[in-house]
Amino acid sequence: MTQLWGGRFSGPTDALMRQFNNSIDFDVRLWEADIDGSIAYAKALAKAEVISLAEATLLQDGLAKIRLEFSEGRFELNHGDEDIHTAIERRLGKLIGVVAGKLHTGRSRNDQVATDTRLWLKRQIVELRQQLLNLQQAIISKATEYIDVIMPGYTHLQQAQPVRLSHWLLSYGWMLQRDKERLEDLTRRLDVLPLGSGAISGNPLGIDRHFLAAELGFAAISANSMDAISDRDYLLEFLSWAAIVQIHLSRLAEDLIIYSSREFGFVELADGYSTGSSLMPQKKNPDSLELIRGKTGRVIGDLTGLLCTLKGLPSTYNKDLQEDKEPLFDTVDTLNLTLPIASGVILTLKVKPEVIAANMDSLMLATDLADYLVKKGLPFREAHHLVGKIVQHALELGQPLKAIPLSTYQQFSPLFEHDVYDGLTFSHSADRRVSPGGTGQTAVKEQLEQLQRLMAC
Ligand code: ARG
Repeated sequence: MTQLWGGRFSGPTDALMRQFNNSIDFDVRLWEADIDGSIAYAKALAKAEVISLAEATLLQDGLAKIRLEFSEGRFELNHGDEDIHTAIERRLGKLIGVVAGKLHTGRSRNDQVATDTRLWLKRQIVELRQQLLNLQQAIISKATEYIDVIMPGYTHLQQAQPVRLSHWLLSYGWMLQRDKERLEDLTRRLDVLPLGSGAISGNPLGIDRHFLAAELGFAAISANSMDAISDRDYLLEFLSWAAIVQIHLSRLAEDLIIYSSREFGFVELADGYSTGSSLMPQKKNPDSLELIRGKTGRVIGDLTGLLCTLKGLPSTYNKDLQEDKEPLFDTVDTLNLTLPIASGVILTLKVKPEVIAANMDSLMLATDLADYLVKKGLPFREAHHLVGKIVQHALELGQPLKAIPLSTYQQFSPLFEHDVYDGLTFSHSADRRVSPGGTGQTAVKEQLEQLQRLMAC
């Protein structure tokens, strides 16, 4: 069994303690970042003349072989491997002999693991960003397809005012746009190299940290070794980011679950994203959306868990920090599922304009009626009150606003004239709202283009 420590111990580690201490089961995922970090570090050791060029080459060749073993699924973990760093160093010793023992000179697993995790996450972020973009593209294509469909806009889940279906869909496109911006912003703080910080106090061997950063593609190096080895802010930021993304997806899922219900029937999910019931033959359930909503809980849990782990830790490295990886991996895995599933649901979603039209409550035009009176000179407050009375009357009659005769309207106010009916259509109501960000056709087309322009950046 290879162990990276133990000289000062005379007794063996308790078997359960060994299991408890090991992180190999999950940190094995860092293998590629660990190899990249080690190759860069071997070069930096040679550059600082701590090892010879020949030794550096030997180390790099050995590490390249290990990379191949991992990528071909041939790398064999040993029962005794404590973590990925131990496993790779053990294998390197087997492949190239004693020179393997020079690789860790001046390095600690503290700066090593912090470097590996940052490198791994930087690579994952490229994929996640693409997934966000894919979902935005799915939204754009559906919003374009259904640009003319007017639906009820809801506040308090009560019909409020007519809106374009594309306007509602695009509202999620903008949330995702902010998610992309936040991702870029947190990347600036993620993109900082801790390697060369040693265990706590820095590197005494003249290691060129800027060289290391350039080799590994980091934009900057950390300024304080004590901070660098225990800083997990970038994980908190990433997990917070992920929790916000999931909340967006969860709200989209919830809207669609409601809209696809029998009572609404505005949309139908493709069979490919639904499942059935083992007992009720008629059931078609929106499990894709329920799981997106449900998995939001675990992502928020990952963030909350890490916040609790970090709270009150004494400064620099404590083994508690090993607990940072599972929530990170879990969240990345979750988003790598929820984002493409959400894209698939949107792309294959069937909208039912006739059902939507049949469910539009004419009272959503009450604001337009008040605006009509305002245009005729009535102060809005009075118009609001008066239309409230008309609404009451319409509810008593069980009639839509457009079915109320002009003579009745005129009993409420002499300001009403025949042209009142011109304004009492849903498309007229929607298309009046052409100020930027509004639901009028020209405004929605404008925001659609605006979003597409930003997405192309
Ligand atoms: N497996 C450890 C982790 O993930 C590596 C760092 C170990 N450092 C130490 N001082 N024991 O945090």
